[in-house]
Amino acid sequence: MLEVNGINQYYGGSHILRDVTLAAPVGECSVVLGRNGVGKTTLLKCLMGILPIKSGEILLNGKDISKMTPEQRVRTGLAYVPQGRDIFSTLTVEENILIGMAKFSQRKASKVPKHLYDIFPVLDEMKHRRGGDLSGGQQQQLAIARALASEPSVLILDEPTEGIQPSIIKDIGRVIRSLADKGDMSIVLVEQFYEFAEELADNYTVLSRGQVVAQGAGSDMAENNIQELVAI
Ligand SMILES: Nc1ncnc2c1ncn2[C@@H]1O[C@H](COP(=O)(O)OP(=O)(O)O)[C@@H](O)[C@H]1O
Ligand SMILES: [Mg+2]
Repeated sequence: MLEVNGINQYYGGSHILRDVTLAAPVGECSVVLGRNGVGKTTLLKCLMGILPIKSGEILLNGKDISKMTPEQRVRTGLAYVPQGRDIFSTLTVEENILIGMAKFSQRKASKVPKHLYDIFPVLDEMKHRRGGDLSGGQQQQLAIARALASEPSVLILDEPTEGIQPSIIKDIGRVIRSLADKGDMSIVLVEQFYEFAEELADNYTVLSRGQVVAQGAGSDMAENNIQELVAI
């Protein structure tokens, strides 16, 4: 389980994350919601070690990982699907996925495991195409496959539905649900698409100006009027 305890982060003089605390249990989809600019992406970058935290703790199975480099965090089980996907447009689909396996031995890291192509069959069909030739939705699937290629225990996704057609959003939702239900992974999902978030959330956290303003079980989101807190 991933735990965030009272973390604070600044850009220069501006206080971006304020005592943020949340837990992402194994086997659950933990959703983080909030309007534009409240600090969602900043929080995920702090989890991955791309940005340092000023204070607080980030614990993975009870061990503080907050001083680790991003590479060390990937080795210890975190994987990140960044906002905007960041796939390599001149590399092939297959090469993009193999990048996600860099932490493994050269032998293991030379072949994409079949189960990844089973999850996203379109990537199998397109494995020799360049990443840049894929549609936005296919690129998002590729970014998720690349993250899963590292066999993470914590999968962190930043707005995977942003700018993506509804049919692929449904596919991505099904994949996230089945990964959570397998019971060996914590999923942290940042979303602005409320219905998608509510459907997947086992627990939720709402951020406003870098602070947690609501938190609870996913099944209580409707009665707690969470949609109003994040409506644009
Ligand atoms: N590199 C940066 N330098 C300075 N301020 C930043 C930087 N990145 C983001 N911010 C600011 O930090 C706040 C939180 O941004 P972000 O975490 O990207 O929000 P969200 O993902 O919730 O939209 C915003 O006010 C944004 O303008
Ligand atoms: Mg963001």
